Amino acid sequence: MNPSITMRGGSVSFILDVSASTPVVVHWGADVGDQGDLLAEVGPIAHSANDLPFRQELLPQSSSGWRGRPALEGHRPDGIAFSPRLVTTDVTVADQGHCEITMADAAAGLSLNIEIALSEHGMLRIRHTLNNDGETDYALLTLATTLPAGLGAAEILDLSGRWCREQHPQRQSVHQGTWLREYRHGRTGHDASVLTAVGSRGFSDRSGKVWATHLGSSGNRATSVEKTPLGSPIIGNAELFAPGELSLAPGGSYTTPWTYASYSANGIDGVSEVFHRFLRSRPNHPSSIRPVVLNTWEAVYFDHNLEGLLQLAERAQLLGVERFVLDDGWFLNRRDDTRGLGDWVVDDAVWPHGLAPLISEVHARGMDFGLWVEPEMVNEDSDVIREHPDWISGPGLSRIPEQWRHQQCIDLVNPQAWTYVFDRLNALLTDNDIAYLKWDQNRDLTEMGHAGSPSTHAQTLAAYRLMDELKRAHPHVEIESCSSGGARVDLSVLERTDRVWASDCNDALERHTIQRWTQSVLPPELVGTHVGPTHSHTTKRTHSLSFRAIVAMFGHFGIEWDVRELDDAAVAELSQAVSLYKAHRALIHSGTSVHADLVDPSSSLNGVVAEDGSEALFAFASLSTSSDETPGMVGFPGLDAASRYEVRVVFPTLSSPYAHAHGPEWVPKGITATGAYLAEVGLPMPSLHPEHAILIRLVAV
Ligand code: GLA
Repeated sequence: MNPSITMRGGSVSFILDVSASTPVVVHWGADVGDQGDLLAEVGPIAHSANDLPFRQELLPQSSSGWRGRPALEGHRPDGIAFSPRLVTTDVTVADQGHCEITMADAAAGLSLNIEIALSEHGMLRIRHTLNNDGETDYALLTLATTLPAGLGAAEILDLSGRWCREQHPQRQSVHQGTWLREYRHGRTGHDASVLTAVGSRGFSDRSGKVWATHLGSSGNRATSVEKTPLGSPIIGNAELFAPGELSLAPGGSYTTPWTYASYSANGIDGVSEVFHRFLRSRPNHPSSIRPVVLNTWEAVYFDHNLEGLLQLAERAQLLGVERFVLDDGWFLNRRDDTRGLGDWVVDDAVWPHGLAPLISEVHARGMDFGLWVEPEMVNEDSDVIREHPDWISGPGLSRIPEQWRHQQCIDLVNPQAWTYVFDRLNALLTDNDIAYLKWDQNRDLTEMGHAGSPSTHAQTLAAYRLMDELKRAHPHVEIESCSSGGARVDLSVLERTDRVWASDCNDALERHTIQRWTQSVLPPELVGTHVGPTHSHTTKRTHSLSFRAIVAMFGHFGIEWDVRELDDAAVAELSQAVSLYKAHRALIHSGTSVHADLVDPSSSLNGVVAEDGSEALFAFASLSTSSDETPGMVGFPGLDAASRYEVRVVFPTLSSPYAHAHGPEWVPKGITATGAYLAEVGLPMPSLHPEHAILIRLVAV
């Protein structure tokens, strides 16, 4: 066995010293080349500490003198085996990108398998499997993956939010102590951060070292950045279990979700590039064009009638829509949000001939058809719960959880309930020509339970299995992960779904931030982005059509607006936006996302550059008033320095976003300059009214 393992991929190296009794992380960060058999340098022994030098274990254990949070916590009856001493028993290096380490503690009756993969893009992935080799039950309290950040790590960035304001950044310095985020929602959560990043002081979109992780799990989770007096900060990720939730019977095992980890020497954009490239390389990544969507929710809400929806479909076709999605309100008794969830049969009071008349008209107009469902939920006022009141997931003790949006969660750990939901959805997909499900999940569940025991872990796996089995039975059906907007955005649900709904807020100003940060991990094609109504339904702000369309352009574009009310000018401008999306979606959904580091936070310049540098699309946006008179010179990041680009404003052309007419000369005429010039000298940007934007196209000539 070699004394060390070196994995290299993209611009990243991951080096482990496996010469001692437990694996030690020598390095996770920039590629340091081939270092041969590299061992961890032994540091000094601290005063008043174990008589051993400190070594950063891959699996920090109290038994090695680690006085921070142990990666593994659990016990047998009476607290026996509370502090295991797992030592390496086997190391298998499959190839440069994969290795497995087995550790065991025979006295404690435990063994652990660690899988590590480093992709050609630099995406590091780690997960653990714990086996109970003993003769009594082992109560598992936590099993975390941990990774140390490298030299200079000084600041933490993660994201937080609430309904209609997901994925907003928050930053702070690393101090001694633990920055702990716990998500106890029974789903991923509106406040969940797609990334937990630690970086060098002042790291930005384009500069500084950043070590970032994501835990691929939709259940209860904890992420932490911990700095002890022992050394550098370590990032931890683990599922969070309720008391008594995870007990391993003799011979039983538990596998953690994957932790995804991306290192960048060039700020957040470098982290995102690794995530995007890795996700795009998955065999199940959506490969067909992302169709223009029209979703009916903000157009009609629960007011379903065939005539109105046919008018909407007619308008949708005129605008160039390719997928028509019928939202909530189509099933039995569902006239508002108090009733009907769980019955999943078409309401013949509203749809006397079923969904067929709408679906066939949608097809005749050249669009495919999508349908809203919320399979994990029930209303107490539904036939299914009248028949099976015991199918409500909850704490037991003759009590069910408080309602949330008048609804409860169906206990999918119960095989009868699971089969019932599967059969209903299977029938729906068999009887109707449906290309797409908007799969919603609209409540937190802090007391998820099956047969009186906590069941978030099992329920999460059961929901995944429902998606997996339906996809297996109907492989052509795409699924969107929606959860009152963006409360289920994670890489595990995305293993079985094709996009996420980032937020119920369609206000373009709010969306600008929500989408930017959702896309710090997810590439644009996985994020649903819709043009909402002129007056936002959730904030009452009013925005120009061009601003709304430009913000929606950098994602999987759609419309969520009663387009029957549009005048001719709005039809012309929205049709133009749809055409621009269609013309540029291949670029947006394959290129590199870039975000200029602007000093003035009142504006932004974000874009996508083709991997070969041959073209790019940027949005320059004014987000608020500025203390400066004009935006001044702004540099375009990410272009090929040596190429010459033709630069043109392509949208809006039918309405004006400009605060004063005397814009820079290049705006009406276009300009040609090299990538180096555009990056280092930049172009003078026009003064835009606040909350307005322009779309800029660059083509190498
Ligand atoms: C959730 C979704 C919305 C819409 C409604 C329907 O709130 O996030 O987009 O589908 O449910 O009830």
